[in-house]
Amino acid sequence: MAASPFPDGFLWGGAIAANQAEGASFEGGKGLTTVDMIPHGAHRLAVKTGQEKRFQLKEDEFYPSHQAIDFYHRYKEDIALMAEMGFTVFRTSIAWSRLYPNGDEMTPNAEGIAFYRDVFAECKKYGIEPLVTLCHFDVPMHLVVEYGSWRNRKMVEFFARYARTCFEAFDGLVKYWLTFNEINILLHSPFSGAGLVFEEGEHQEQVKYQAAHHELVASALATKIAHEVNPENQVGCMLAGGNFYPRTCKPEDVWAALQKDRENLFFIDVQARGAYPSYTKRVFAEKGIVIAKEAGDDQILKNTVDFVSFSYYASRCASADMNDNNSSAANIVKSLKNPHIEVSEWGWGIDPLGLRITMNMMYDRYQKPLFLVENGLGAKDEINAQGEIIDDYRISYLREHIHAMGEAIRDGIPVIGYTSWGCIDLVSASTGEMSKRYGFVYVDRDDSGNGTLDRKRKQSFWWYKKVIASNGGDLA
Ligand code: BG6
Repeated sequence: MAASPFPDGFLWGGAIAANQAEGASFEGGKGLTTVDMIPHGAHRLAVKTGQEKRFQLKEDEFYPSHQAIDFYHRYKEDIALMAEMGFTVFRTSIAWSRLYPNGDEMTPNAEGIAFYRDVFAECKKYGIEPLVTLCHFDVPMHLVVEYGSWRNRKMVEFFARYARTCFEAFDGLVKYWLTFNEINILLHSPFSGAGLVFEEGEHQEQVKYQAAHHELVASALATKIAHEVNPENQVGCMLAGGNFYPRTCKPEDVWAALQKDRENLFFIDVQARGAYPSYTKRVFAEKGIVIAKEAGDDQILKNTVDFVSFSYYASRCASADMNDNNSSAANIVKSLKNPHIEVSEWGWGIDPLGLRITMNMMYDRYQKPLFLVENGLGAKDEINAQGEIIDDYRISYLREHIHAMGEAIRDGIPVIGYTSWGCIDLVSASTGEMSKRYGFVYVDRDDSGNGTLDRKRKQSFWWYKKVIASNGGDLA
């Protein structure tokens, strides 16, 4: 066995999010959030992207988030399973509307705070460090209906109040924080990403970038508050990562790939470097985007993050003649098909070397520690005649990606930790399916919401336990 490239104290674990795991959408004083309005089925994409307004639930539709995998009632059993694998970090998110049901109240809901204190204390009981996202695809619906969500400047104030509540209420339990999950997804899935819905004929890019500005200011303000509340707090930004490759070495294709990368990295450029990057001036002018800034915004943006976190599922590919007909959004962000890489059952690329490339690019650009907080293979699992789930395809995906991350560490990049996505099966963000499974732990529930919700260890559970025990030295 070769020596492990992973440093002592490297954090190993897995990730979930409140909106895809907790369920209990109407319990504990929680208010409705954006994800609660996104149905399974034909209307999902239009609602997720803000093209179809959905402010009321419909009787004849199924909303997978309402029960999800019932983490709300089963977190003790679930965290015990994570501890059994040897996790030293567990990523989850706080549902903003459990703490502020409407989002604009002055005082938080005590029941929501008590729930998360219990969850984080349960992690600590096992020596697991919670890694907590403040906003993972769930904006309180009241803020969407009354204020237009992040298009409205008032959101900065509401988010700052919510963030301060979290930092104060969970001080001593949580040290690692992320502000907005996959902040760049606001551009690609505006309702699920940021609670945005559009009016007919609106300049959608203008709305999206103004909302982005508000989120960036709110994120920087939250970072400042986190450090004021406790200087030990470590705050990260979070990118839906994956570099764009040019389809060919034609200069026009290379330029197209660079522009595509900038579109996503714009957010992290601001959060990690503390100012709008110079290229935005021309890009915004050409797109007719004018950002309304308040005095003091540029100063607030200087509160940069402590580390850069990101998700990585696959690399992407672009060319100068890329258009809606030759590209697809299998992995939310539109990409050309790359003939050199294989794809998953859902058409998502599989490119471990792309992870090393992405990590090198990010460290070259930001010079801040990285944290890979989502990575994994969504696949269908079968229970065999012996009652086992032999998910060797998942092991193989994870093995290759962990190896690539190890190579990036050998390249000289400081990496804080790794949390694979959906360490326990949960609802898919893109499709609303349960059958797109990522977990080491199987959950008995189908795409229509039927099942006992019982948990079951998969073959990958035992494999990952061994990986963690060997600090990544044994990936066999
Ligand atoms: C990321 C999200 O985009 O990818 C998660 O942060 C999401 O919320 C994950 O679940 C995997 O995507 P999907 O669509 O397979 O659930």
